[in-house]
Amino acid sequence: MSQTTTTAADANTRTARKDIAMLKPAKEFSAKAHIKSLAHYRKLYAESVANPDGFWGRQAETELVWDKPFKKVLQFKAPHAKWFLGGKLNVSANCLDKWLDTPHANKAAILWEGEPAAPGKPGEERTITYRQLHRDVCMFANVLKRHGIKKGDRVLIYLPMVPEAAVAMLACTRIGAVHSVVFGGFSAQSVADRVYDSQARMIITADGGFRRGSVVQLKKSVDEALAIKGADGTPLAKTIEKVIVLRRTQTDIHIQEGRDVWWHRELEYVSADCPATPMDSEAPLFILYTSGSTGKPKGILHTTAGYLLGAKLTSRYVFDLRDEDVYWCTADIGWVTGHSYVVYGPLANGATSLMYEGAPNWPEPDRFWKIIAKYRVTILYTAPTAIRAFMKWGDQWPKKHDLSSLRLLGSVGEPINPEAWMWYHEVIGGKRCPIVDTWWQTETGAIMITPLPGATPTKPGTATLPFFGIVPEIVDDAGKTLPNNSSGKLVIRKPWPSMLRGVWGDPKRFVETYWSEVKGSYFTGDGCHVDKDGYFWIIGRIDDVLNVAGHRIGTAEVESALASNPNVAEAAVVGRPDELKGQALVAFVTLKSGIKAHPELREELRQHVGKEIGPVAKPDDIRFADALPKTRSGKIMRRLLKQIASGVEIKGDTTTLEDLSVLAKLATAED
Ligand code: WT7
Repeated sequence: MSQTTTTAADANTRTARKDIAMLKPAKEFSAKAHIKSLAHYRKLYAESVANPDGFWGRQAETELVWDKPFKKVLQFKAPHAKWFLGGKLNVSANCLDKWLDTPHANKAAILWEGEPAAPGKPGEERTITYRQLHRDVCMFANVLKRHGIKKGDRVLIYLPMVPEAAVAMLACTRIGAVHSVVFGGFSAQSVADRVYDSQARMIITADGGFRRGSVVQLKKSVDEALAIKGADGTPLAKTIEKVIVLRRTQTDIHIQEGRDVWWHRELEYVSADCPATPMDSEAPLFILYTSGSTGKPKGILHTTAGYLLGAKLTSRYVFDLRDEDVYWCTADIGWVTGHSYVVYGPLANGATSLMYEGAPNWPEPDRFWKIIAKYRVTILYTAPTAIRAFMKWGDQWPKKHDLSSLRLLGSVGEPINPEAWMWYHEVIGGKRCPIVDTWWQTETGAIMITPLPGATPTKPGTATLPFFGIVPEIVDDAGKTLPNNSSGKLVIRKPWPSMLRGVWGDPKRFVETYWSEVKGSYFTGDGCHVDKDGYFWIIGRIDDVLNVAGHRIGTAEVESALASNPNVAEAAVVGRPDELKGQALVAFVTLKSGIKAHPELREELRQHVGKEIGPVAKPDDIRFADALPKTRSGKIMRRLLKQIASGVEIKGDTTTLEDLSVLAKLATAED
């Protein structure tokens, strides 16, 4: 039997749950929205896929400012796509210069809230208008030039969540340098590996960053990274000529003469005049490293025109952006969400993008709600893992603040379980805000499957329908398209402008990972269920879909069932080899505060899952834990959990763990 055939235990049991109803967009919301009805969406969608050249060509012409018009919309020979051939444009000009002679010039481009220095103290704040951001970017671009950075050179950015991170990114794009942002929580080794892989010439960093009241020593990590030697005995990061250091925490750092320079000093030598370099549509824009199924991260390559168009269009339609919005995407700039939905998408639309430097629970668990009340945030875009943490901390924290400015909520990064969805809807959104559950990937550059808030009726747990011009399908192992009401591998059948153009320095891996599973189509690596309405329910990574006694079970599905039990805060489910069933299910469970783990509860939870999904999905083991091991971006470290579940010794890179003691505790936990 094919692995992807629907079975009784399949994901459609999720859609069959009685408490999941369709939520239609409110009339008042739809009336003002860019896309006002499902029929409107369907009409535009049908046009976009019937004539993709016409659709994307028109969008590119009207949405982007071109220095030289493109001649051809698309040249595609799978897996290689080239969009908007012959055209020239500049990303920073599209995000900044475009607004200079308009009423937007003095509008806030970035609202920045720093981490509070201490409990009880307010955070620092800065407002940067489009005109000011333009000046800052021009000056910093001149700094890059002063140090010999040219078109095509790679620049590594390793900064905290401060406005200068956006300035550095935009300055690179202004002169055609290719940025590679490395999340500030990554280790020196990660920095060295990424410099080595990208052959970057420069690192832009800070003396430190604030995190929960302490200082993250970024420059120290850079110093360490620069000293790490490769197998041949030479430094991995030997291509680095200059390190530009932003003063942020006033931490004592080592400055190496000739190599390290201060950001603020450099500004003394440059003017604010820096014309944007016209770039080819297909010129590399940035590289962003992301982990794959093997240990070595892949450098995902995005290019200029297509990426910008994707980020801009989706920002406008998915978040229904309007001039008066205060839009807050909580992602760090080190992830693709920070690229597309903190910087490029909002700025290309002339929106106000809020940036916050710190953690959601420092100094207290109401930090987010305080910020929303303070800035009158209208749109909030965050991750299910954060939402579940907020649920666990309790309703009293959001209830202390006025959240009435919110009009739209978004979710991204992993399947959102219906309980978290409902909580988000009721407690944060006051039942009046639509929720957009947006599915996409580092590789796709922009949102691919999502509700449009004024048009698409939503159901908790599904990302609903494809964005304009996007053709997702589910297929079986032979690559054949499956009908509604079944589950399979999620592929994208047609190219789209913001798709990745390659894996940096590894064309073979690009083809093998994304274009070999299903011939001629982009393979997402995700399993997905399509329900009777054609709604896409992402089950999770294919490697997280288990086969237990011949039944396919999505770990996300079991997790969702566990999380619907009132005692449970969060659950992660992984497989371990089992002689009889092939794979057995192991659940790692954290309980709500005040609930104690005991053997009866274990049995209660097994029964609960049996009831929610079916007996086949009952976890074989349930292990209680204080917290789950997570990467800095909040993803549960499943591979580690699998190793723990199988009782093998823990190997591999653990530098991205939030809390190593959690892992140790789990590894040694007695049943
Ligand atoms: C993977 C991509 C794209 C921004 C952040 C993550 C999972 C993402 C959803 C969603 C269910 C989702 C998928 C995808 N994912 N959004 N709305 N519902 N799953 O980027 O690190 O490249 O991860 O995240 O499994 O393949 P990423």
